[in-house]
Amino acid sequence: MPTRNAEQWKQPPPGLRQGEWIDSRIYSDQEIFEEELSRIWKKCWIPVCHESELGEPYDFRTVTIAREPVIVVRGPDNKVRAFLNVCPHRGNMIEMRPSGNFKEGTPSGNPKHMTCMFHAWQFDMKGNCAYISREKEGYQERLSRKDVGLRKLKCEVYFGGFVWVCLDDDMEMNVAEWGGHAFDCLQKAVDAEPLEVFHYHKAIIPCNYKLWHDTNSEFYHDYLHYHNRITGFNDEYFARKNSSYANGHVVVGSFKVRYDQYKGFQSREDVSFPHMEPNAWYMIDMFPGVNFNLRGSALRCDLMTPLGPNEVMIEFRGLGLKRDTPEMREARIKHHNSIWGPFGRNLHEDLIAVSGQGGAMHEVAEPRRILHGRHENHTIHDEVGMRHFYDVWGQMMNRLPSDPSKPYSPPPPDLESEEQSQAKAAAAN
Ligand code: FES
Ligand SMILES: [Fe+2]
Repeated sequence: MPTRNAEQWKQPPPGLRQGEWIDSRIYSDQEIFEEELSRIWKKCWIPVCHESELGEPYDFRTVTIAREPVIVVRGPDNKVRAFLNVCPHRGNMIEMRPSGNFKEGTPSGNPKHMTCMFHAWQFDMKGNCAYISREKEGYQERLSRKDVGLRKLKCEVYFGGFVWVCLDDDMEMNVAEWGGHAFDCLQKAVDAEPLEVFHYHKAIIPCNYKLWHDTNSEFYHDYLHYHNRITGFNDEYFARKNSSYANGHVVVGSFKVRYDQYKGFQSREDVSFPHMEPNAWYMIDMFPGVNFNLRGSALRCDLMTPLGPNEVMIEFRGLGLKRDTPEMREARIKHHNSIWGPFGRNLHEDLIAVSGQGGAMHEVAEPRRILHGRHENHTIHDEVGMRHFYDVWGQMMNRLPSDPSKPYSPPPPDLESEEQSQAKAAAAN
């Protein structure tokens, strides 16, 4: 095939239509990135951690969503609540540790309270202001503690015990409604009994968060993974369904993984999650940047925190059953880490690939066309999932993914109906 000159290089292949390619500026433009934080990340439910990380009353975990500092705490009533981690006095971040417990006091604060280190205001586990230092002397009767409580955030524990937070008070859907039928394929497996995080690591990667999201949701890149080619790539694999759901979510259906085909690996059926077929593998890719991936015996959850147009922090969690015996837990850790751990078979391959994309899509790169045009009857290498994700992205941003300088408009009717009818059908089931 001939090479192309600069003008030809910028054009999409003539046989593809709007919706089958996007413009690379949506991965590199600072203004678009800022808009994404406010129009998408502040509007969606985000699973910030797992309840097993807050096992005891007064346990806490701090995170950020769209740069906003957030704290989740378990109260003495065992309820998990979320607040902005911002002091109502002068806006200091109240808790700076990533995790811990408030049962013990701090140098300037009482036990069982969150204490802002700056001027020692204190808050209880429900976010009420419990103490203002030299309150009467300074404020007389002009300021009441009840007027300076913390900013409470919408928070739910749902889907296998994940702690979901939404910054938008006007969010009308609860997590179940927002995730909808995308949860169905794994709901029984993860809700059968309590789960526990057994693995956590994080990585800061030089790429846009959507590129990591893409690599989780598309399986055409299994050509990158020797392990997946050896243990999959059979008729059942190529028939695996790729389905779109309301609100931008995508699910990849199951098939039987042939772990025994890979030297040193064994079947995982002895430690399957409840209600899972032996060696099955489901994947739920939640909008805008969360992934649940259950390979028979180990659940992986990736949470993306966008840091900049070309920088994302990814938190990787591995989960098993809380009641695991030491032997079961050891097997799950091995199964999880040998593929998805920092030195696992697949993870670094994905990270190298998206870093390569990030290296080519930096802030001053020319706009390029990124192709999402594969159609294979909604099976595993069909890029219907990415087309669906970017269509919802375009709607929320009111930008056209194939030319973000223009307002959103739907893809061609036949392409649109293909994606949307599938999402509607799935929602109706
Ligand atoms: S800023 Fe928190 S007590 Fe002053
Ligand atoms: Fe991968």
